[in-house]
Amino acid sequence: MNRKILLIVLSVCFWGVVQTFSQSVREQKRNRCFQPKEVWYDTEGNPINAHGGGILYHKGTYYWYGEYKTGATTLLSDVGWECYRTDVTGISCYSSKDLLNWTFEGLVLKSVPEDSSHDLHPSQVLERPKVIYNKATKKFVMWAHVDYADYGKAAAGVAVSDTPTGPFTYMGSFRPNGEMSRDQTLFVDDDGTAYQFSSSENNQTMHINRLTPDYTAPDGTYVRRFVGMSREAPAVFKYDGRYYMLSSGCTGWDPNQAELAVADSVMGEWTVLGNPCRGVDSDKTFYGQSTYVIPVQGRKNDGRFIVCFDMWNKKDLPDSRYIWLPLVMDGKGALSIPWQSEWDMTFFDRQ
Ligand code: GAL
Repeated sequence: MNRKILLIVLSVCFWGVVQTFSQSVREQKRNRCFQPKEVWYDTEGNPINAHGGGILYHKGTYYWYGEYKTGATTLLSDVGWECYRTDVTGISCYSSKDLLNWTFEGLVLKSVPEDSSHDLHPSQVLERPKVIYNKATKKFVMWAHVDYADYGKAAAGVAVSDTPTGPFTYMGSFRPNGEMSRDQTLFVDDDGTAYQFSSSENNQTMHINRLTPDYTAPDGTYVRRFVGMSREAPAVFKYDGRYYMLSSGCTGWDPNQAELAVADSVMGEWTVLGNPCRGVDSDKTFYGQSTYVIPVQGRKNDGRFIVCFDMWNKKDLPDSRYIWLPLVMDGKGALSIPWQSEWDMTFFDRQ
């Protein structure tokens, strides 16, 4: 073998060894189970930064959108309540095939530092983004809670994109049907009709706003539900032909007891079922607050859901963690969320 060939052979072998080594490092770093309350790392080894988030499943991939919180947490004085905040940086997006390993796709909606009057200026509030896909317009539509630093604006902001990973174009904010809107979520029914659930009337009453066919505005039809019941952090899902709303009480960044409610139609009457959490600290939602319920895809539709909670660290908001837990049917035929300190998808198979 002449020297040139030997050099080529050695280079190929070296490249192979490097590849095998980096593959095994990647394998070691792969997340294999959910560990609620622990720091959750993305595929680059950075803590996942997507708070108050929502998940979209599109063409075989899950996308996780959330508040990207960085920098100092400060306490706003003179507002009469404990208003801890971080400056707005934007909405992040992560993608995943297995719900455990998430790749950072960047900020899909960025703050606008150069315009102090803009909704997305760092001094404002941008929370609880949710993204839905409109099959007719082929647009990805994001709604988020947009507010002043003292939460006096109580509005919803809308942004649209041609792709799930953005960039999203901000269209502006408004009060849906002229009413206050703070904590919020979106829900698309099987017939393609979309709704925004939002804590309205100073967080006292939930408004369910039906959206226009392009999902970018309320269509004018809405109902008041959970009147005077101070429900926040709504997460809505459909199971076995019925509609469920998981929500929190109204205690700022501090935890309280979760509540599940059910209805036969989205805008119909809702019946409160009580607290679905089971196990230690279930009276405080395990120190979490609901943000989304994910229907797990790729298996038969037999009621596999993952419930996503935020565990807020109000004095260091960027260090807020996530609590993802399975939602299961318990022995008494009721939906429940049992505490697990560590679990994986095989949990569902054991049910
Ligand atoms: C919570 C709400 C959070 C955030 C916080 C501010 O009740 O769910 O999204 O707005 O208040 O204190």
